[in-house]
Amino acid sequence: MLPFYEPVQNDFSAVNELIIEQLHSDVGLVENIGHYLVEAGGKRLRPLLVLLASGALRYRGKEHLKLAAIVEFIHTATLLHDDVVDVSSLRRGRLTANAKWGNAPSVLVGDFLYSRAFQFMVDVGDMQIMRILADTTNIISEGEVQQLVNAKNPDISEAAYFDVIHKKTAILFASAAEAAAVLAQASDAQREAFRLYGYHIGMAFQLVDDLLDYSGDSESMGKNLGDDLAEGKPTLPLIVAMQRANRADAEVIASALREGSADKLQDIVQIVRDNEGLSYTSDCAREHVASALQQLSALDDSPHLKAMRDLAEFAVARNF
Ligand code: IPE
Ligand code: IPE
Ligand code: MG
Ligand code: MG
Ligand code: MG
Repeated sequence: MLPFYEPVQNDFSAVNELIIEQLHSDVGLVENIGHYLVEAGGKRLRPLLVLLASGALRYRGKEHLKLAAIVEFIHTATLLHDDVVDVSSLRRGRLTANAKWGNAPSVLVGDFLYSRAFQFMVDVGDMQIMRILADTTNIISEGEVQQLVNAKNPDISEAAYFDVIHKKTAILFASAAEAAAVLAQASDAQREAFRLYGYHIGMAFQLVDDLLDYSGDSESMGKNLGDDLAEGKPTLPLIVAMQRANRADAEVIASALREGSADKLQDIVQIVRDNEGLSYTSDCAREHVASALQQLSALDDSPHLKAMRDLAEFAVARNF
């Protein structure tokens, strides 16, 4: 276990149990798919963030366990839908649910998980938290649709790319931390600091995810490389490489994007490397981590806060 899980080890186990408990359904297929994906593990970074943030703010109740499970349910639902739209076949080191059961069950069980998250939110009964998470879920879907619209278009700008990753990924990290602050009855300033901390690690996290799609190792990631290229996703490593490469090389990338083809993945990885597309992307991630750390500087130190700093570093140093 990575050290930043340690301060909340017991709560973390409790959340994992709660997640399994809340997967309950009378329909066998719902439970099968739910358990299949949940038992494959995953890093559980978003629930971890809820637990660390509430610990750092010295929250003493029990509702943070539910909040953590809710956030992971929303995340898991997005993964089920995401693997359908990305036509991905490997997730958490296993066949994706769509590869194993097909698209229809994946989409429907994704809906089940979203709605279960909302049922559980009603249980927590905090209107502010409900608003944060309702808005977040809505924005995630918008981000995914925006990304679909941008697919196969090599002219997408850096700004448009950043807008998509903010919506599809960073917002859930931001909201996990912010909702924990609401639960802990933090001041407005603290709430904003936690939201921004989550936002910046979420941005760094997706930047690195997009980097790993070209430079990672499938075994450690539990996902296949090249899925983004195969779907024509204009992610930052490619956007930067197209700006910097000579015309012929830029055209190799642009036409792969237009076609949504990973046939030239190896050549494209080389072009991206030669034009510093990978290092530029990781520098961007590092800047976000620095901004995340800055948000924590005014808070009282604690093992939880230290773990939040380590989690921020992990968002960029990770290889899975
Ligand atoms: C994958 O998230 C989706 C992205 C936002 C990149 P994670 O990398 O957190 O996935 P798991 O939950 O650990 O499998
Ligand atoms: C994930 O983006 C965003 C959401 C799940 C909303 P990706 O499509 O890059 O995530 P992976 O790489 O499949 O995990
Ligand atoms: Mg995907
Ligand atoms: Mg995707
Ligand atoms: Mg990805």
